[in-house]
Amino acid sequence: MRNKVIAGNWKMNKVLAEADQFADSVSGNLPDDDNVEAIVCAPFPFLPTLVEKAKGSNLKIGAQNMHFEESGAYTGEVSPVMLQDLGVTHVVIGHSERREQFAETDETVNKKVHAAFNHELTPIVCVGETLEQREANETMSHIENQVRTGLKQLTDEQIGSLIIAYEPIWAIGTGKTASSSDADQVCSLIRSVVKDMTSENVAEQVIIQYGGSVKPASIDELLEQPDIDGALVGGASLEPESFLKLVEAGT
Ligand code: G3H
Repeated sequence: MRNKVIAGNWKMNKVLAEADQFADSVSGNLPDDDNVEAIVCAPFPFLPTLVEKAKGSNLKIGAQNMHFEESGAYTGEVSPVMLQDLGVTHVVIGHSERREQFAETDETVNKKVHAAFNHELTPIVCVGETLEQREANETMSHIENQVRTGLKQLTDEQIGSLIIAYEPIWAIGTGKTASSSDADQVCSLIRSVVKDMTSENVAEQVIIQYGGSVKPASIDELLEQPDIDGALVGGASLEPESFLKLVEAGT
C-alpha cells in the first residue's frame, strides 16, 4: 500500500513574510496520518525559514530545482550540497517550465536525479506531454522516453524511492485538468515502464503523482485512481486553507 504524497509547488510566488505565515498556519494543522505526506516546494530564499518552522511537524520542505554539480563557477545556481545542508528533503527536477524556459533536457534531468540521491534528497521527477504531442498520439512514447532517460543508471532501490510527477503541459495553470481516467492511464504506463526497467516490486513502490490544475474540488477523484498516488499542485497550493484541504484528501 503506497502513501499518498501531496506536494505544493509555489513556483515564483510569495515574499518571505507570506511564506512565514503559510508555515505558521499549516505546520500544526496537518492531519496526523502516516499514510499521507505533505511537502512544500518553495523558492530558495524561503527554504531556511520554512525548514526551521516545519521542524517537529509533518510538513516536509523541498526546492524547485538545483544544479547537478556540487560547487563551482555556476553563477546564479544552487547546489545539492547547499540544499542538503539546509535540511531540505525533496527537490523538483525537470518541471516543464524548466524544460521549456531554461533548456533542461532529459540528460540534465538524469544528472540532477543522480546528484539528488548523492545528497539524500528525494527527487520529484516531472514528465509530461504538450498538447501537440497529445493530439499527434505521441503521449505514451514521449513519456516513456522521458522516464527511461531521466531515470537512467539508477539502482532499483533509488527508483523505488523517488517520486514521478505526471504533468500534461496543456493542463498546467490552464484550469484544464486531464480527466482522472486519462491521467491514470498515463500514470499506469509510467508504472509499467518502471516495472520493465526494474521489477514488479519496485514498480509497486514508486510514487506517481498527477499535476495540472489540481484543486480541492478535483483531487478526490484523481486520488481514487489506482495508479495516482498524489498530486503536484501549483496555484491551489499557495493558500494554507486550500493546501490543507488537498492534504486532507489524501487521508
Ligand atoms: O508543479 C505544479 C504544476 O505545474 C501544476 O500547476 O496546479 O497551477 O496547474 P497548477
